[in-house]
Amino acid sequence: MPNPAVLFVCLGNICRSPLAEAALRKVCQEAGLELTVDSAGTGNWHSGEPPDSRAIATAARHGVDIRAYRARQVRMADFTRFTHILAADHQNLTHLEALRPGEATAQLGLILDLVAGREGQSVTDPYYGDAIGFEQTWADVLAAARALVDRLTPEA
Ligand code: 4NP
Repeated sequence: MPNPAVLFVCLGNICRSPLAEAALRKVCQEAGLELTVDSAGTGNWHSGEPPDSRAIATAARHGVDIRAYRARQVRMADFTRFTHILAADHQNLTHLEALRPGEATAQLGLILDLVAGREGQSVTDPYYGDAIGFEQTWADVLAAARALVDRLTPEA
């Protein structure tokens, strides 16, 4: 089976999904795995903008530079370009299901569906919170990234 191509989706593409992209890039690099990874938002208010400064700081604390990431909105081509489109919360997932074109091949789900025991849970939106919220977001998306890479990495 070819490696998956994963798109993470949140509302603004400036907090949760860029951190999910960063976490998966980091874990893939550590594992020597090459995946297609990207992130997008269901909304377009922040299109073209870098991630939220608190997300940039959080990623930097964990060794990933996301300053060059730029927000974009989900587009129809994403539903065939990616094998998996993973939403941060139920609202994002409902939005994606409504957008999903007939020819879509991507499987839709929640980011935390990847994590045993956390299926169906949302990654809490840290936008209106404090720095601790961003650390919690990082912990959630890192757990998901590790679970995905574990699944794709044959045991030595
Ligand atoms: P994100 O966070 O969906 O994790 O990127 C948010 C970013 C922006 C807004 C809400 C949530 N906003 O309302 O602009």
